[in-house]
Amino acid sequence: MKFKTVYTCQKCGFTSAKWLGQCPDCSAWNTMTEEVVQEESKSAKAERKSFTDFSSEMTKLKDAQSLELARIPTGIKEFDRLTSGGLVEGQIILLAGAPGIGKSTLMLQLAGSLSRERGVLYVSGEESSSQIAGRAARLKVQGDNITLLSETNIENIINAAKTSKPQVLIIDSIQTIYHPQFSSSAGTIAQVRECAGEILRYAKPKGIIVFILGHVTKDGALAGPKVLEHMVDTVLYFDTERDNILRMLRAHKNRFGATSETALFKMGPLGLEDVEDASAYFSQTSRTKTMTGRAFSVAAEGTRPILTEVQALVSPTHYPFPRRIATGIDLNRCQMLLAALEKHVNVNLENRDVYISLAGGAKISDPALDMAVCAAVISSARDKALEGTSVFMGEVGILGQAAPAYMMDRRIEEALRLGMKKIFVPPMREKSAKSGLVYIEDLYSLSLHIK
Ligand SMILES: Nc1ncnc2c1ncn2[C@@H]1O[C@H](COP(=O)(O)OP(=O)(O)O)[C@@H](O)[C@H]1O
Ligand SMILES: [Mg+2]
Ligand SMILES: [Zn+2]
Repeated sequence: MKFKTVYTCQKCGFTSAKWLGQCPDCSAWNTMTEEVVQEESKSAKAERKSFTDFSSEMTKLKDAQSLELARIPTGIKEFDRLTSGGLVEGQIILLAGAPGIGKSTLMLQLAGSLSRERGVLYVSGEESSSQIAGRAARLKVQGDNITLLSETNIENIINAAKTSKPQVLIIDSIQTIYHPQFSSSAGTIAQVRECAGEILRYAKPKGIIVFILGHVTKDGALAGPKVLEHMVDTVLYFDTERDNILRMLRAHKNRFGATSETALFKMGPLGLEDVEDASAYFSQTSRTKTMTGRAFSVAAEGTRPILTEVQALVSPTHYPFPRRIATGIDLNRCQMLLAALEKHVNVNLENRDVYISLAGGAKISDPALDMAVCAAVISSARDKALEGTSVFMGEVGILGQAAPAYMMDRRIEEALRLGMKKIFVPPMREKSAKSGLVYIEDLYSLSLHIK
């Protein structure tokens, strides 16, 4: 075996034969680290390629379609929703998030329910087996089919897997695992890549489901795990939402399902609990009161409708140029809506600051919020209160006309479920028989309701 020295950027994975002060790829300074890697001979490279390439017998499409049915539900509702109904044999999942967000907790819960039907090998490079057992007891996870291994050497991990033959393999976390043939320390790009490569080459052909857990750094960059994104089938990011109360898991990539879905959890005594009534968390003020500058809307996160509270404040400016500030919502889109309002509606925004914000620290990008933004701004500008039982949803274009967003039916249902009395929506192709609908054609007709 021959070895060579390369310099790898620890931020983006760029490699160079010589040391550089600044990474030419991502422009980070002092991120190039010396790593010794194995120089592969041509034959070794060819052999390795055949390992990772996809190849299978020719199949009739009809027969192949039956594979689609082989979903393995985990029994954790929100997780199954996120993964479009469950896992698939041989699926490799990267579960990434900041330290302490709940990766190991969720993983142990998933291990618990998957172990009812399958053997699970839980490898931890961070905690001892007794620590994991302690957590399992606290979370009341049944672990008869879960094998624990506290290990950081990838060779020993693969050997343990060969012995215990799990159908689900968990690596917690990839940054703590090292490959003995490489001199760089655990967590460096080269180590992360090589260790993940070993795991994939071992697990893929056997149809083992693999979870690779990875820490992201404070600035949100997935230092090591970033290089894994193209190797795995599914990338799930853990994030906090609603000022740390909720934990949101999003799919950034999924070869086996949609990426628009999210899973919402909250941390409880038994670990992460499904949050099914998301609407309860994304509005702050009382729906029984009228308020100036507040408009409710129903946003959609994937296919989940969520009641969202848009707040607007229009006030005299103390600056040479009036300020336009948006929190949790796209500023450019808000500026477009403000321009449309000035043009089509009699509201005065000149020499006035406009602040627009989503309540509860929500961050949502959904054109259906447009009408609520406009309603909240008109309400604040004219100092006319809006009912707490009114909800506004629909896209607004630069010409001031309103148009339906996707999933209007589900949004209307959610609004009715929450007891909303007046539902302001754009005219729709199919007239709905639902009660409380008020059709709004454009900003001008919206403004007639706010005075
Ligand atoms: N013994 C415990 N009792 C109650 N809550 C705990 C306990 N241990 C951990 N937690 C909570 O679980 C959270 C998630 O921990 P963990 O799953 O280990 O995160 P990660 O693996 O992402 O670093 C912690 O931030 C903490 O709030
Ligand atoms: Mg952990
Ligand atoms: Zn770089």
